[in-house]
Amino acid sequence: MEEQGLLKEQPWRLLEFYSGIGGMRYSAIKAGVNAKMVEAFDINDLANDVYEHNFGHRPFQGNIQTLTAADLDRYKANVWLLSPPCQPYTRQGLQKQSADARAFSFLQILEIIPQLMLPPSMLFVENVVGFETSDTHQKMIQILKENQFVTQEFILSPLQFGIPYSRPRYFCLAKRKPLSFYNPEFNGQLLYVPKPLLGENDNEMLQTCLPIESFLEFVNSKGKNGTFTDEEDSLNKYLVPSNLIERWGSAMDIVYPDSKRCCCFTKSYYRYVKGTGSLLATIMPITRDKTSLEELCLRYFTPREVSNLHSFPKEFEFPEHVTLRQRYALLGNSLSVAVVAPLLHYLFSES
Ligand SMILES: C[S@@+](CC[C@H](N)C(=O)[O-])C[C@H]1O[C@@H](n2cnc3c(N)ncnc32)[C@H](O)[C@@H]1O
Repeated sequence: MEEQGLLKEQPWRLLEFYSGIGGMRYSAIKAGVNAKMVEAFDINDLANDVYEHNFGHRPFQGNIQTLTAADLDRYKANVWLLSPPCQPYTRQGLQKQSADARAFSFLQILEIIPQLMLPPSMLFVENVVGFETSDTHQKMIQILKENQFVTQEFILSPLQFGIPYSRPRYFCLAKRKPLSFYNPEFNGQLLYVPKPLLGENDNEMLQTCLPIESFLEFVNSKGKNGTFTDEEDSLNKYLVPSNLIERWGSAMDIVYPDSKRCCCFTKSYYRYVKGTGSLLATIMPITRDKTSLEELCLRYFTPREVSNLHSFPKEFEFPEHVTLRQRYALLGNSLSVAVVAPLLHYLFSES
């Protein structure tokens, strides 16, 4: 992790719970915080393969719910980064919240805090929009308060950071007293704008949103005779089949290379077309509203392109054995580095 310390000489010791493919770790690196990732935890074998492939360290593979206070004290960590499962809170799900078994490990880990000899000084929690109105959120805030944390909460999307990608997410930043936020006037608030994170010169930069084109790995047009060139040949597997276009065309979110927005990619992208993420028109029509969907040569965004939209670094890659569907599933669970990095930078900034 980069050694541009923001706060103190000794690196902060980080634990990354629910590490997945490492979005939090990439964000911490991008944030330039003086920190050392002491351990990551995830139950998913495949996610751990990807994490290990990119970071050279295999996360602790097991259920976070089984961790004890003694286990956690051993890491001597002072910062916890957590992106627990979102299914208990998603609009599409049953919204069982804390009663959903997938919420148990998160509640359990929070309940351990008062038992720790070395409780964390800072916490960062990421989840879906909807979490902020759940009983899990209520319990989290109560536990944090009881343990002397002050919080600032945000709902932010990459669109607010110059990325043409709508992926609003909930974030909770927590600091244990006597630590305090750089802008303490936002304590206890839920903000929908990144105001406290911005420096004086940032506003202008954020107003310019890049087009989708800047995130693509392939040129988007077919050759003159309607066939693919060599480079585009590998794009065949990303084309949307005609039967899906006929059946679901009206429900598809279609974007163009010059678009300045696309929809959130979910873990079911490529398995289903409705509501799982945008599809790209590879032919730029002269008149958009009069062109049939068939003529647009719709394709899925490639996993590389989805990771670009998640602002993952260019070096990020999947090990070969991870299938296409698995890549989309793992990316659909992950987070936007463009949003999390400035939030982490802000969390680590001293007041
Ligand atoms: C929302 S995803 C987090 C993704 C991660 N932030 C990333 O960048 O890829 C939740 C992750 O938690 C893991 N997970 C869910 N329940 C778990 C548990 N009880 N113990 C350990 N890992 C768990 C899942 O395997 C999944 O990778």
